[in-house]
Amino acid sequence: MLTIRHVSKWFANGTQALDNFMLKIASGEIVVLIGASGCGKSTLLWLASGLDRASQGGILIDGERVTRPSSRINLIFQEPRLFPWLKVADNIGFGLEGRDRRGRIERVLAKVGLEGFDARWPKELSGGQAQRVAIARALVIEPKVILLDEPFSALDAFTRRDLQQHLLTLWQESRPTMLMVTHDIDEALIFADRVIVMQPWPGRILEEFTVDLQRDRDPASPEFEALKRRLHASLGRSMAGRRHLAA
Ligand SMILES: Nc1ncnc2c1ncn2[C@@H]1O[C@H](COP(=O)(O)OP(=O)(O)O)[C@@H](O)[C@H]1O
Ligand SMILES: [Mg+2]
Repeated sequence: MLTIRHVSKWFANGTQALDNFMLKIASGEIVVLIGASGCGKSTLLWLASGLDRASQGGILIDGERVTRPSSRINLIFQEPRLFPWLKVADNIGFGLEGRDRRGRIERVLAKVGLEGFDARWPKELSGGQAQRVAIARALVIEPKVILLDEPFSALDAFTRRDLQQHLLTLWQESRPTMLMVTHDIDEALIFADRVIVMQPWPGRILEEFTVDLQRDRDPASPEFEALKRRLHASLGRSMAGRRHLAA
């Protein structure tokens, strides 16, 4: 349902960020992008969100070309980017219309572990709480596709764990399609149905791993550990930054 079709991207300064990138993501699937810094992960999410245009190729949702941001797609960044002049409830409800606005805001707040925080100002929140609000804001409109650019990497380990669990629970409830960028191999394997390893200069796909493990995954299990080792080795090849023929 999310199709990235032959996408190349050059920036005005001549940098080629993506070269003929192709990926099809099924409805409700979670795909994780991982790879050396500069391999075009953020660029790809920007293009998929409609905030920027591909130089060549295109991105489609349910067969319809993405040309601008819409409520079908939502992008969550590493930093929360809340509106400082709006209280938590209005940050979440921004752009939300219709009946039961208040109820929807309250329910989504509870789902990210922030019950009763609706009247707080962003400056009164910790980094972890602010990121919970950002996730609630993205989920409240029930987008078909959620794009996440290193959403937990600024958080401490405990908050990170907790928010990962909240997000997985929310995903299980409404099954949005997710495309997530992370630098953390454990995080990739906790979330992904598939992990795509990219490599830079220009950004392209190096290898793909299917994560065939039951949900509520145990990072200590031998299967998880084995995948982790393979992914680690692949990431090493990504860092090396040259084309590599997988064994
Ligand atoms: N607005 C821009 N103008 C010029 N070059 C850019 C711009 N944004 C990103 N780049 C370059 O494109 C490449 C991919 O960047 P990015 O998508 O941010 O990589 P990643 O998120 O994988 O670290 C890098 O070489 C980066 O320097
Ligand atoms: Mg990035």
